[in-house]
Amino acid sequence: MSETVGVEMLSSGVCKVTLIRPEAANALSVQLLEKLKDTLEALAFQKEVRAVVFTGAGDKVFCAGADLKERRRMEEEEVRRTVALIGETIEKVAKLPQPTIAAMNGTALGGGLELALACDLRVAAEESVYGLPETTLAIIPGAGGTQRLPRLIGVGRAKEMIFTGKRITGAEAYLIGLAQYACPLAKVETLALDLAKQMSANGPIALAQAKKAIDNGIETDLATGLELEKLAYERTISTKDRLEGLEAFKEKRKPQYIGE
Ligand code: CAA
Repeated sequence: MSETVGVEMLSSGVCKVTLIRPEAANALSVQLLEKLKDTLEALAFQKEVRAVVFTGAGDKVFCAGADLKERRRMEEEEVRRTVALIGETIEKVAKLPQPTIAAMNGTALGGGLELALACDLRVAAEESVYGLPETTLAIIPGAGGTQRLPRLIGVGRAKEMIFTGKRITGAEAYLIGLAQYACPLAKVETLALDLAKQMSANGPIALAQAKKAIDNGIETDLATGLELEKLAYERTISTKDRLEGLEAFKEKRKPQYIGE
């Protein structure tokens, strides 16, 4: 059976995860999803992984979402199981402690865009298209799309995208805040890897705590969020990395963080 998910550890501490089904627009088949889920479960515990970049094989599509050909052959129960598997897998992306970046090196639709929405940042290709076309297939975005998209771009714009199923360009995705960067397709991966490298040089416990404080804080009121921030800060105070940061500053050198 051919490999559907590639995992490459770079010397910078960045792990590149590639969806590999270019013949099927990197669609999320059950086989790919199971491999991706196992990969994510492992990455969450790997201390040497400081940031994760998701990308798609080929030069046209990041991910076309659910495998529609596979789904056509499924009975209702199997569809339910597969939708749950997509949801669980994408939730594992969101719950990774490391910073995550979707290097959307081409079109991302449906579950493909939902995977990107579960990442911390998104880099889009100016000329590619992005959308949640589920209602055009008489289903709804079911892997976080109805929740994460409005939080990111506002309720009105999210409803427009979901109700019409329209596809917007990467340039538009940047303008409405869906993507944090838009650049020519050929530069997407380099830009994303560069951002991830900048993050991977920072204290890993600090990154994980900042991510937790932001993600949990945004779901609550300001006073509770500030309490969560206090707890997250507290977790960094007793670390060796905090002392290393101060030492490196004194010695005018780059800090070497170890995640302890
Ligand atoms: N599932 C399975 N195969 C897919 C696929 C998908 N989602 N999307 C594309 N493919 C296949 C095509 O059938 C084609 O295969 P063949 O050569 O064997 O015909 C191959 O990938 C290349 O596709 P195209 O020839 O269409 O290439 P393109 O560059 O012209 O267009 C595309 C690419 C824009 C992704 C277009 O194929 C497309 O619009 N695909 C459908 C995407 C879609 O509707 N996704 C939403 C799925 S629903 C969902 O994700 C909800 C959920 O449950 C999570």
